[in-house]
Amino acid sequence: MKPFSIVVLISGDGSNLQSIIDRITDQSLNVKILAVISNKANAYGIERAKKAQLPIEIIEHQNYASREIFDAQLIKIINQYQPQLIVLAGFMRILSDDFVHYFYGKMINIHPSLLPKYRGLNTHQQVLEAGDSQHGLTIHFVSSQLDGGPIILQQSITVQKHDTVEILAKRLLLQEHIAYPNVIQWFSEGRITLDNKHVSIQSLHNL
Ligand code: GRF
Repeated sequence: MKPFSIVVLISGDGSNLQSIIDRITDQSLNVKILAVISNKANAYGIERAKKAQLPIEIIEHQNYASREIFDAQLIKIINQYQPQLIVLAGFMRILSDDFVHYFYGKMINIHPSLLPKYRGLNTHQQVLEAGDSQHGLTIHFVSSQLDGGPIILQQSITVQKHDTVEILAKRLLLQEHIAYPNVIQWFSEGRITLDNKHVSIQSLHNL
């Protein structure tokens, strides 16, 4: 069967991208990465993509006069590949409403908090400052509300007494690296559907 096709959008380290590449390599993820798209020319994730011999597109937003023009160009690039799913993996760029509407239902993101808690940046620090006993990750469809789209999966970890931002971030990333490829695999199996704002996940035995 032809593998499910995705593009992955990154801005930084790309450890989530790596987790997807690794699962494809060990054949536990039946997916083809058509391209890795970065809005930062120096993102380490680009090295990971090179090593995996994946097509790379770099589109730097400072070269575009406005968010709308940048987003229109990004749509063009993505459409050249015709992916079935657009995977944001540490893509640090707020997308315009037009962009989000254009790809609504076909674009997912991973966020390091138990949304709706702690949208935006510095989530680990906020968890520690609030004295929360639980932290976690959320994988969601992208909507025009920042980190606010329909939720597909959440997983929590327990905050330990001596946790620092770095330790928490590291521990949560380990979970992200398992959860994100799993969710992408569910998509490839046609198990995830979005009806307006309602997400359904079919369990295996219903197929
Ligand atoms: C992850 O914590 C992810 O949840 C967030 O950005 C970080 C990206 O890390 N959206 P990486 O670039 O995949 O290593």
